[in-house]
Amino acid sequence: MTTSKPVTDGLAPVRSGRPAERPLRDPYDVMFVGWSFFRSKLLTAAMDLGVFSVLGDGSLSTEELCDRAGLHPRGAQDFLDALTAIGLLSRAEGRYRNSPGVAGHLLPDSEEFVGGFLRMTTELMGGDQDSLTGLLRNGTARGQGTGGEVPFTRIFHDPVRLRHFLSAMDSFNGAVAEELAHVFNWSRYATFTDVGGARGNLAERLTAAHPGLTGTVMDRPSMAEHFDRLVAERGAEKRLRFVGGDFFRADLPPADVLILGSVLHDWPMEQRATLLRKAHGAVHDAGALIVYDTMLDDGRQQADSLMLSLIMMLQSAQAGGYSPAQCSSWMTDAGFTVERVVRLPALTTAVIARKN
Ligand SMILES: C[S@@+](CC[C@H](N)C(=O)[O-])C[C@H]1O[C@@H](n2cnc3c(N)ncnc32)[C@H](O)[C@@H]1O
Repeated sequence: MTTSKPVTDGLAPVRSGRPAERPLRDPYDVMFVGWSFFRSKLLTAAMDLGVFSVLGDGSLSTEELCDRAGLHPRGAQDFLDALTAIGLLSRAEGRYRNSPGVAGHLLPDSEEFVGGFLRMTTELMGGDQDSLTGLLRNGTARGQGTGGEVPFTRIFHDPVRLRHFLSAMDSFNGAVAEELAHVFNWSRYATFTDVGGARGNLAERLTAAHPGLTGTVMDRPSMAEHFDRLVAERGAEKRLRFVGGDFFRADLPPADVLILGSVLHDWPMEQRATLLRKAHGAVHDAGALIVYDTMLDDGRQQADSLMLSLIMMLQSAQAGGYSPAQCSSWMTDAGFTVERVVRLPALTTAVIARKN
């Protein structure tokens, strides 16, 4: 096997930028790594209590917040000031506001809401350490039974989990779509298929950015109603169509460009290879394949990507992260010529390849 050497586009050096990732100097630094879960608890509690929604665009005093969010006065002041100290709220003259740039991500009706992702990952963790320790001791996933049923089976049977899941996907793929619309030369192509494209958020954004481009979203048949709703809301009926089916059993809808976004990480190695081979069959000659995912950095130094890989492992039995180098090698094995590796927002990397 010869692996073509991809051009690496704008790959920023690994940035950590988080206080816990600077050199640890004293016992308190170590203690606070262990205690950093408390920030997450504060955020989750504030979402559960509706603090961000109650504040909306306005400002409220402690008493008003107690009244509207149902906070008991005993802990309210410390809670609100702690939220302020970690940057989620701001405070002036005794009145609290949602921090600029933060509120949009925490209001459930906002397009940029990240709460679904937080809920999904919290649920996978089980609210305690057990499921992570279980994974590390036994390799078991919390998101499915030990019987090894197909990933996502449970999510699709639970409307609340499905809602969190779709919101979680959108909070990543929305940011990815904005950038993917620009870093790839779409003008050379007329059609694409987003394989495992969920409710079509990324596909809709790509077609909105490139008039003349039409997309097919392939996902499980039960995704159709969510796709239909999104397409109707955004008036995208003429630009997008949905094909329901199992991507392992059905033919992939042919197109100039195939996208496999955050799909490969869910499956065992053989099935990743199967999907890439099927993608090669479905891409038109001279077309392209784009694989994007929250990939591990090749140096395995980026804490958030490594943690996301562990979250994937909690989600299903054989899931896990992979690096751009691994991905390039699999794509080459499937017959593609890898051209570029592109760093995208939301911890995501795309590997872009051509079909000769
Ligand atoms: C992790 S999500 C990624 C969604 C989207 N591409 C994104 O980037 O947000 C994986 C998607 O694959 C779909 N999927 C899983 N198994 C599938 C199968 N056997 N056939 C078709 N779609 C499947 C899921 O329904 C889900 O929408």
